[in-house]
Amino acid sequence: MHLILLGPPGTGKGTQAKVIAERLGIAHIATGDLFREAVKHGTELGKQVGAYMERGDLVPDELTIATLLERMQRPDAAGGAIFDGFPRTFQQAQALDEALAVRNTPAGAALLITASDDEIVRRLSGRWLCPACGAIFHEASQPPKKQGECDNCGSELTQREDDKPDVVRNRLERQRPPDEMLEHYRQQGKLVEIDGARDVDAVTRDLLAAIETAAADTDKRT
Ligand code: AP5
Ligand code: MG
Ligand code: ZN
Repeated sequence: MHLILLGPPGTGKGTQAKVIAERLGIAHIATGDLFREAVKHGTELGKQVGAYMERGDLVPDELTIATLLERMQRPDAAGGAIFDGFPRTFQQAQALDEALAVRNTPAGAALLITASDDEIVRRLSGRWLCPACGAIFHEASQPPKKQGECDNCGSELTQREDDKPDVVRNRLERQRPPDEMLEHYRQQGKLVEIDGARDVDAVTRDLLAAIETAAADTDKRT
């Protein structure tokens, strides 16, 4: 099964994608994570995308699509994936449709997580990440058991460079899911809106219910 998680920055895509990928035994594919990894290791891709990310601008479609397609070739993605933070433009959505059509595995659902701007700013300014295992924490809503330390692996937690207030504002302005892309999934009957402004477990429950409904609909059609 292939699933798409859409939503403005900070609505909880990464938090939810981790849980869902584990629950369903599918790969978690996040272009933002792939780009951060490339920046960290100073690869050619990292050099190309670093400046866009620092400003909170979108990385150009061509680079983003190439990165995604390459990631989809890895063996762990053979049995399905949840896409977190991709697509973000209509062109990216079309490229994903094509890649999935070739595999004969169209996306089961496009799940849009929503939250108010105030809530998003609260979430991003309090976010702490584990650089070793990728776990996501929040100083108020999802605090680690021991301050500054990852619950899973004990590594020291860090904050993202682009979670500074002025960059967050730019990300919010430029990275809302565009209407054209949402309309694309609406027309395919795949768009489901999920209210992300509730606790993590409540959002997970709604996402899993929507995924189950989408899977049942797909079974009926085939
Ligand atoms: P990316 O890494 O995808 O960043 P983003 O979309 O801005 O999303 P975030 O990772 O900030 O938020 P999230 O929705 O995953 O929320 P999280 O679960 O962490 O992209 C980074 C950059 O890469 C972009 O700026 C762009 O430059 C580039 N890029 C990436 N993909 C691209 C693409 N397709 N095209 C072009 N450029 C691209 O949660 C946030 C916080 O809230 C955490 O602290 C969490 O603990 C907390 N939280 C989560 N859920 C809840 C809840 N229900 N209640 C309370 N707190 C919660
Ligand atoms: Mg994320
Ligand atoms: Zn960790």
